[in-house]
Amino acid sequence: MTDLATMRDTALARIEEAGDAAALEALRVEFLGKQGSISALMKTLGKMSPEERQSEAPKIQALRTDVADALAARKDAIDGAALEARLATETLDLTLPAPHAPRGSVHPVSQVMDELAEIFADLGFSVATGPEIEDDWHNFTALNMAETHPARAMHDTFYFPDVDSEGRRMLLRTHTSPVQIRSMVQQGAPIRIIAPGRVYRSDSDATHTPMFHQVEGLVIDKGIHLGHLKWTLETFLKAFFERDDIVLRLRPSYFPFTEPSVEVDVGWQDVGGRRVLGGDGDAPGHGWMELLGSGMVNARVIEFAGLDPKEWQGFAFGVGVDRLAMLKYGMDDLRAFFDGDQRWLDHYGFSPFDQPTLSAGVGAKA
Ligand code: DAH
Repeated sequence: MTDLATMRDTALARIEEAGDAAALEALRVEFLGKQGSISALMKTLGKMSPEERQSEAPKIQALRTDVADALAARKDAIDGAALEARLATETLDLTLPAPHAPRGSVHPVSQVMDELAEIFADLGFSVATGPEIEDDWHNFTALNMAETHPARAMHDTFYFPDVDSEGRRMLLRTHTSPVQIRSMVQQGAPIRIIAPGRVYRSDSDATHTPMFHQVEGLVIDKGIHLGHLKWTLETFLKAFFERDDIVLRLRPSYFPFTEPSVEVDVGWQDVGGRRVLGGDGDAPGHGWMELLGSGMVNARVIEFAGLDPKEWQGFAFGVGVDRLAMLKYGMDDLRAFFDGDQRWLDHYGFSPFDQPTLSAGVGAKA
């Protein structure tokens, strides 16, 4: 009797002192395990007389229950303390600044191309594309630049050593104008397209890179004249530069694929030592800068593309996309466009959320 009471007190005291889950488990094995001291007591019941068993069994059972309860209670306490300790150390300070996460941006060339597509879509133009690896028929011949034409040399072409199945020399297209031919051949007339894309010339300095971007415009329909060309370019440039005071000057020029050909200048004004587009190009402190080439599509080009020039006329224009971006967003070195310098991209790049729309502004910058 006294033995059981002592065993109980000792067991409960040791359980109470168990410092962690491992120590507690060792005690459980010591008392209640197969070879445990209380399990051994249970086994003695079998050897007792019925009377003795009747009086001893409840006491041993009670001891077993007390020890089991004490183990369970101590386990709860130890687990609870461990959880408290973990919660105390695993804190998250929500007032800390968010860590820097690398984030891509939309290159100004892509942004400007999206702006162009948006502006011209509003005028009923769709976007056409052509291959960057062209043949010399589409790039030159069909654009009225014969084999001996001096303009071919001006283009400083990157040629491939091979010819295609029709014996045409392959090259990296030197301008987006071959898309004019491809569109007419594929779609017939009428046509209203712009064709933005990469072009290549063997040329390199601060304002020339071996690869750059152009956008071509082409309208083919009936009764098209220079007035349509001027209105279209004026409407486009006002929307693109987001200014109503953009003025244009059309100068006679020469391109083999247009007749007549016009070079288009845009007026600028001096604002605190900076040239800002807009204003009257002829006034003091104002001037003109050459922006793009255009003209009425040469009848020979329309014929080359398989259409009847007596029935169909049109105008075309070509302009440097990189140059448009520089004029609008203020970069001064074209080479930086293609360096992939993260600092430049962070500064001049656009958020993907800056989708150009005519309603929100084609140049909206967050
Ligand atoms: N293809 C010319 C170039 O790359 C630009 C150009 C001039 C395109 C006049 C045209 C045009 O469509 O009509 O220099």
